[in-house]
Amino acid sequence: MKTRITELFNIRHPIIQGGMHYVGYAELASAVSNAGGLGIITALTQPTPEDLAKEIARCREMTDQPFGVNLTFLPAFTAPPYPEYIDAIIAGGVRIVETAGRNPQEHLPRLQEAGVMVIHKCTSVRHALKAESIGCDAVSVDGFECGGHPGEDDIPNMILLPRAAEELSIPFVSSGGMANGRSLVASLALGADGMNMGTRFIATQEAPVHENVKRTLVAATELDTRLIMRPIRNTERVLNNAAVEEILNIERRRQEAGEALQISDIRHLVAGSENRKVLQQGQMDAGAWSCGMVAGLIHDIPTCKELLDSIMEEAEALIRGRLSGMLEG
Ligand SMILES: Cc1cc2nc3c(=O)[nH]c(=O)nc-3n(C[C@H](O)[C@H](O)[C@H](O)COP(=O)(O)O)c2cc1C
Repeated sequence: MKTRITELFNIRHPIIQGGMHYVGYAELASAVSNAGGLGIITALTQPTPEDLAKEIARCREMTDQPFGVNLTFLPAFTAPPYPEYIDAIIAGGVRIVETAGRNPQEHLPRLQEAGVMVIHKCTSVRHALKAESIGCDAVSVDGFECGGHPGEDDIPNMILLPRAAEELSIPFVSSGGMANGRSLVASLALGADGMNMGTRFIATQEAPVHENVKRTLVAATELDTRLIMRPIRNTERVLNNAAVEEILNIERRRQEAGEALQISDIRHLVAGSENRKVLQQGQMDAGAWSCGMVAGLIHDIPTCKELLDSIMEEAEALIRGRLSGMLEG
């Protein structure tokens, strides 16, 4: 398939694996890229810029296809050494960066002077337009369905994507709730040039997470996610579990008492260490972990190649069969 995204990133299929903390290691990124999509390593999962340099080198040993690095700009009070992470990206010869979180503007000149293309992930049309105006090459438009941080506007992709198509000139991919050939065809129909997936890629053979996590995703339905941290405007969509129920109880109690929620109230349940216990040790109730409503569409644990091949076959069959068939007679 040829779209503005396959052309821009020089990939076979218009499918991107979004950055995922404690999931986006070289094993997954290289498997997605080898399967014809764009795999992405998550920079901040690597404790230091030196570790990121090693992870990029490891990924390059596993694939000769293009892959990217996700740089998530966290709220201002936590300040990883972003310039050093960017040095590692540039020195590692990576040509595509997915930015997310805060506005990436201050870092764009460095990246662009080094010939790095930037796709910025955002959850609103106004932020997408901002990304276009500051010179990003593409955007990833993340709807309310998405796993992780959907923002505070709560606009699902059925509205958000065609709104983005009305306003944007640069290419964009859909993100949030995408899983299969239907998702891809729908994304293209709604104006996107491809799709980005997070949760679906966790339930693949190559995803370097505990088997319990993959099995839990297969068992979960679209009813099983919850939104936490709404009161502090840092909303995160996570899979429900004992830790999430405790977080929601703490949030409710604070609200009933007319008090503002403090991050310190729930830190022990949302900390990276607890996230890791779930994803890497399979302790499924240890803490909150990002997961999209798309869990309801995940029924198997294929290899990345099987997944991408099946998406492309299903998309082609839908376009040539179901859709064009409707125009005949
Ligand atoms: C476990 C998990 C961790 C994530 N971590 C990050 C992250 O560190 N940075 C980021 O920009 N997005 C992160 N995301 C969001 C994904 O990149 C992607 O935008 C999102 O998963 C798309 O929605 P979907 O899960 O419905 O496919 C994460 C998502 C999941 C499920």
